[in-house]
Amino acid sequence: MQINKELIEKYNNPVPRYTSYPPANHFSDSFTADNYKELIQTSNTSQPEHIAFYVHIPFCKQICYYCGCNALPINNKNEIDKYIQALKKEIKLVISMLDKNRKVSQIHYGGGTPNAIEARYLKEINELFSINFSFIDRPEIAIEIHPGIINKAYIDELFNAGFNRFSIGIQDFDENVLKSVNRKPSAIPIEELMHYMRSNPQTAGLNLDFIYGLTGQTVENFTNAIQKAIEVRPDRLVTFSYAHVPWLKKHQQILKKKGLPSSDEKLNMFLAAYNLLQKEGYQPIGFDHFALPDDELSLALNNHYLHRNFQGYCTRRTTGQVYAFGVSGISQIDNGFAQNTKDIFKYNHLLNNGILPTEKGITINYEQKIIRELIIQLMCNQYINWAQIAKSFNTSAEKIKQLVNFNQDQLDTLVSDGLISYTNDDLRVSEIGNFFIRNIAVLFDPAYKLVENKYSKTV
Ligand SMILES: C[S@@+](CC[C@H](N)C(=O)[O-])C[C@H]1O[C@@H](n2cnc3c(N)ncnc32)[C@H](O)[C@@H]1O
Ligand code: SF4
Repeated sequence: MQINKELIEKYNNPVPRYTSYPPANHFSDSFTADNYKELIQTSNTSQPEHIAFYVHIPFCKQICYYCGCNALPINNKNEIDKYIQALKKEIKLVISMLDKNRKVSQIHYGGGTPNAIEARYLKEINELFSINFSFIDRPEIAIEIHPGIINKAYIDELFNAGFNRFSIGIQDFDENVLKSVNRKPSAIPIEELMHYMRSNPQTAGLNLDFIYGLTGQTVENFTNAIQKAIEVRPDRLVTFSYAHVPWLKKHQQILKKKGLPSSDEKLNMFLAAYNLLQKEGYQPIGFDHFALPDDELSLALNNHYLHRNFQGYCTRRTTGQVYAFGVSGISQIDNGFAQNTKDIFKYNHLLNNGILPTEKGITINYEQKIIRELIIQLMCNQYINWAQIAKSFNTSAEKIKQLVNFNQDQLDTLVSDGLISYTNDDLRVSEIGNFFIRNIAVLFDPAYKLVENKYSKTV
């Protein structure tokens, strides 16, 4: 794939990432724990029927300067214990409201660094879920792993706790790059780590995460890192574009001072990685994920049933309504979203008093659900079939087009730039268009307003 500079200049605008619709900055502070409870009640009888749990473990042994996640440095062990006690209280409160006849399809532990805490905590939480619910066949029990602090005994404990999918945060293999961003390299050589995890039959998948656009990265050293990753054949690989948002994450200012690659260099890193991964048989999923051709995600994309939530891509098989636990966790229920406080002291305090730590959220209406579905279809499957979406919402294609301010002139511009093709019935995103998918999605978002310094740029 080649992308010319004029296109980048034209479309490199700050637009939402659309990891959710409406985007998280639309969540309202007036949304309360009672509103969340109402969402939970209605979720018991709405689709998707499956249950997904997200558990946020905010702790990290050290903070990487690029980090955009909700992460906290560990000050003392006591703090972890207090947090886990509060987390269990939250889980019990929510579980008591859930219909136990629904099955769990996915559990995802993210952070922070879930493997920065003792594995026994993770096991105890998984047990809380497994004694209360039954699971679908082949559920996904996934965890994000920092390889800089892992050892084999700990990996065994993760298997013992029930985990079957591991996302390993490599970011880059270049030790100079890692040093500049305050990150430890993998404690076990990657070949050995992958081999060890794969040799356990419980492993359903291994993912590797990379970031491009960091201090010290060049097209050459980033391509070398991706080449090294390809040699260990992960099932999935992600190349995240470094999101520089120093107005939200103060520590990122350090990287700006040290020097960051230009947008041009960043784009070339992405393209070099993209072309290499494709040449080596990986299928692009969305604009930054890649999967082996026989991976569930590739099959779902080819059949237009790929889906996503805040935790990443999933398929209609594993999709569930997501109940999130822990500081900053965002629940994604059919009728809306609810986000917990990001303040760990407040979080612990509220739960110790039996109160759900909901801080903001949004209840969404029928129209917003339609737009959400349309944006999910675009972002995941790069395809919209108006009649199909209309059918699932019991409405007409014409009404949906009105709802999203369907604008033929804007679409024709995208067509002449080679980003999409469309007919009366459907719309397809091209390979290049997929790179600008956020800029395409924004045209169907009637609530979008251009505001500088609110979203990261496309490149
Ligand atoms: C919660 S972190 C992963 C778990 C673990 N703490 C680690 O660092 O390996 C999830 C992923 O988000 C990505 N990430 C973090 N900060 C980012 C940023 N500012 N821009 C883009 N991706 C970012 C990283 O690739 C990281 O692996
Ligand atoms: S990237 Fe991972 S390890 Fe680094 S600070 Fe963020 S959450 Fe923690």
